Amino acid sequence: MKISNTLTQALGLFLSLGMTVEGKAPSASKYSRTEACKPHHPFRPLPVSQARTRTCHVSSHGNGKDDSNNILKALHKCNNGGKVVFDEDKTYTVGTALDMTFLKHVDLEVLGTIQFTDDTDYWQEHAFKQIYQNATTFFQLGGEDVNVYGGGTLDGNGQVWYDLYAEDALILRPILMGVIGLHGGTIGPLKLRYSPQWYHFVANSSNVLFEGIDISGYSNSENEAKNTDGWDLYRSSNIVIQDSVINNGDDCVSFKPNVTEIIVQNLHCNGSHGISVGSLGQYPGEVDIVENLLIYNISMFNASDGARIKVWPGISSAMSTDLQGGGGSGSVKNVTYDTMVIDNVDYAIEVTQCYGQKNLTLCNQYPSNLTISDILFTNIKGTTSGKRDPDVGTIVCSSETVCSNIKATNIDVQSPGGDDEFVCTNVDNTLLEVNCAASS
Ligand SMILES: *[C@@H]1O[C@H](CO)[C@@H](O)[C@H](O)[C@H]1NC(C)=O
Ligand SMILES: *[C@@H]1O[C@H](CO)[C@@H](O)[C@H](O)[C@H]1NC(C)=O
Ligand SMILES: *[C@@H]1O[C@H](CO)[C@@H](O)[C@H](O)[C@H]1NC(C)=O
Ligand SMILES: *[C@@H]1O[C@H](CO)[C@@H](O)[C@H](O)[C@H]1NC(C)=O
Ligand SMILES: *[C@@H]1O[C@H](CO)[C@@H](O)[C@H](O)[C@H]1NC(C)=O
Ligand SMILES: *[C@@H]1O[C@H](CO)[C@@H](O)[C@H](O)[C@H]1NC(C)=O
Ligand SMILES: *[C@@H]1O[C@H](CO)[C@@H](O)[C@H](O)[C@H]1NC(C)=O
Ligand SMILES: *[C@@H]1O[C@H](CO)[C@@H](O)[C@H](O)[C@H]1NC(C)=O
Ligand SMILES: *[C@@H]1O[C@H](CO)[C@@H](O)[C@H](O)[C@H]1NC(C)=O
Repeated sequence: MKISNTLTQALGLFLSLGMTVEGKAPSASKYSRTEACKPHHPFRPLPVSQARTRTCHVSSHGNGKDDSNNILKALHKCNNGGKVVFDEDKTYTVGTALDMTFLKHVDLEVLGTIQFTDDTDYWQEHAFKQIYQNATTFFQLGGEDVNVYGGGTLDGNGQVWYDLYAEDALILRPILMGVIGLHGGTIGPLKLRYSPQWYHFVANSSNVLFEGIDISGYSNSENEAKNTDGWDLYRSSNIVIQDSVINNGDDCVSFKPNVTEIIVQNLHCNGSHGISVGSLGQYPGEVDIVENLLIYNISMFNASDGARIKVWPGISSAMSTDLQGGGGSGSVKNVTYDTMVIDNVDYAIEVTQCYGQKNLTLCNQYPSNLTISDILFTNIKGTTSGKRDPDVGTIVCSSETVCSNIKATNIDVQSPGGDDEFVCTNVDNTLLEVNCAASS
């Protein structure tokens, strides 16, 4: 009975994502993560999971009592060749920051709900500090050959954080899913709800497939759920993110420093800031590299941007109270955005090297030290919001010398009023098959 319920739910999710059922079963020994990646394969093959031969069920106290010890106990017991099950119809409470970076050849089948406590004092002190952009995570999951699936829910109890952040922008809001140092693994299908800020932080990881992730969670007060990025990737390579639905209020997927060989495909993003490279060049003295990205078949609705590359200029700038930067160097190279349908999106394409700097004179005076090259935007169609009329896109470099080979082909985008203009600055307009009507 329980099993058939779960199957029905999982099936429902797959059907709603237009996926086939054979995309499931990450735990099977012959499961090939590489073949599960469709239509584009990863840059390098993903490792195959070993068979799991033992099962451990996580017990739950119920009544909101901390189940962290139960979880750790089960993980240690079934690590190295087993499967840890979070039972259906159970809610597990997590009130302790869990270090799960010791995992190896283990599956976590999440059928029930895992909810994080709303003890903001505890989490601000004990959540894992990931240093980059002051990011902290409820837990860190890492190791080798780990699959997390089952279609259950991780609930970040975000409301208390949305309200607290409105009072103090410098509080540290934990990220729901910290994937730190994971080499080989599958994450999903899973439902992620009410993250205090970003939904995933993926750092120091490689060879990981995310699929069937369903993200949602809105604030029920006047304080918006802010910075709820779907994924932020950092210091990671050979990652695939696919077949997922993201309802959020910031970047749908974001590529932070030192991210290479990434496939993002078949996503439905609603309410986001687009699929974003960056922001990069935030920290002076640091070298940020983002290379070899293929972003394919994205539906982008109700968003500020569709395809986006954001780079800080060569001078210190302030985006907001808790976000400042500029002056860093590095490169963005070989990035393809192929096939995107937009609706109610402010800019179909936005490339900026003046991120955080409203004074354009100053931006051009101190060009970015971060180069952008070999970029292709192709097969992008749909309707903008009209908010930027007459512009539907903007491609602005801080100097001619730091951008090269930025191409746009088969772009069919208009505003509701029929406008189709692009701002093109310090770029080779002959490579842009768009209406470069303005430059600044
Ligand atoms: C990643 O690895 C580096 C080098 O070992 C380490 O300094 C850093 O703390 C790790 N985590 C993150 C989030 O960068
Ligand atoms: C990190 O936090 C410090 C102090 O809380 C703040 O000054 C700084 O702006 C924050 N940096 C970022 C990148 O958010
Ligand atoms: C990113 O890679 C560059 C080049 O290898 C390196 O200099 C830099 O320290 C790396 N940055 C981070 C945050 O790992
Ligand atoms: C594009 O993604 C959607 C899900 O958002 C999926 O239904 C469709 O099959 C995908 N198309 C291709 C060509 O992969
Ligand atoms: C898109 O997001 C809005 C909230 O901004 C929500 O009202 C709407 O239901 C979402 N649409 C879909 C299809 O998820
Ligand atoms: C650039 O990215 C594409 C995928 O869009 C990939 O096929 C190609 O190998 C990459 N080029 C290099 C030089 O790595
Ligand atoms: C866009 O948002 C509106 C509400 O603001 C919602 O009704 C609609 O479903 C959203 N569009 C999509 C395609 O999700
Ligand atoms: C940019 O790089 C040049 C040399 O590569 C260096 O002289 C200059 O200080 C850098 N500018 C910034 C803002 O980092
Ligand atoms: C923008 O920067 C320039 C150059 O430093 C300066 O002269 C100008 O006053 C600034 N404009 C504003 C509005 O701050």
